[in-house]
Amino acid sequence: MIKHIIWKKNSLRVLDQRLLPRRVAYIDCRTAEQVARAIKDMVLRGAPLIGCSAAYGMALAARKRSTTALQAAARVLVASRPTAVNLAHAVDAMFRAAAGTPPQRLPAVLARAAEAYFRSDLDYNRRMGILGARLIRKGSRVITHCNAGALATSGIGTALGVIRESFRQGKIAHVYADETRPYLQGSRLTLWELMGEGIPCTLITDSMAAHLMKVSRIDAVIVGSDRIAANGDVCNKIGTYGLAIAARHHKVPFYAVAPTSTIDPATPDGSRIPIEERSAAEVLEISGIPIAPKGARARHFGFDVTPARLVTAIVTEKGVVRPVNASGIAKILAGMVR
Ligand code: MRU
Repeated sequence: MIKHIIWKKNSLRVLDQRLLPRRVAYIDCRTAEQVARAIKDMVLRGAPLIGCSAAYGMALAARKRSTTALQAAARVLVASRPTAVNLAHAVDAMFRAAAGTPPQRLPAVLARAAEAYFRSDLDYNRRMGILGARLIRKGSRVITHCNAGALATSGIGTALGVIRESFRQGKIAHVYADETRPYLQGSRLTLWELMGEGIPCTLITDSMAAHLMKVSRIDAVIVGSDRIAANGDVCNKIGTYGLAIAARHHKVPFYAVAPTSTIDPATPDGSRIPIEERSAAEVLEISGIPIAPKGARARHFGFDVTPARLVTAIVTEKGVVRPVNASGIAKILAGMVR
């Protein structure tokens, strides 16, 4: 698998995912501010991966050997994208590592803590893959949305981790990947990952998913998440909610796959999740080429919220939440593996 973030002690080398699949190029971030800028500009993306990068951003800030510098870095990193709670989760983990550390030792301690954070996400991916594959029947034809794969995490991915492991077990017959307008994470990144591993896959535009469920057998929809509220509402890439409605209508199980670092117990329900709204230009243009009349207006919501009642199960590294409700979420956070 391609290296998408590389820790260099004095910098974080980041694969520029905006250029994939045409070109492989890296950007070097030497400060927490540069890491935050890379996250904001979508150089790297995906909730678990931006969490890991924020941890390394804190390690870069630690070179200033001051708590004030760490606090300033935390503010800019958490503000880089508002929806994924993994940023705050990672920054909190770095503050816990820094607590009680003499200033001179901050760089080494935080670099180690960031490495550990990255490695734990890798392990969670593996565990979610194994747990999630238990839900998948042999010969399954599945739909996924956005990119919840290796490029979005530190390991095999969340939703794509389940798909990879299920494929390894001989259970996946075909994957349909939503294109995912406007950043095209599905066509550019998910297809790139799946095709690279010989997993049979087909690209569909976002608006084709409901039709496909109607005219063809689909056995499961499998997606990742950027934040899961305490009641089990699942926030993910824009278009996920529509996919979940279509899945319920067609009696197709809808699975969300996310590490517990994506669960935000402080957010009671999905209505409280801040939805990133990005520049309208990203909708009005494709690769810099206008696709609407000059002066046209557009909205660009980055994410939407799928109500818990439409989610068949949430797969975490600690176990599977099913049915999806507040008590299931509380139990998984308490470490009750089911
Ligand atoms: O805007 P992006 O590309 O960061 O959005 C990514 C997603 O919505 C993923 O589905 C989510 O982060 C889960 S990734 C493991």
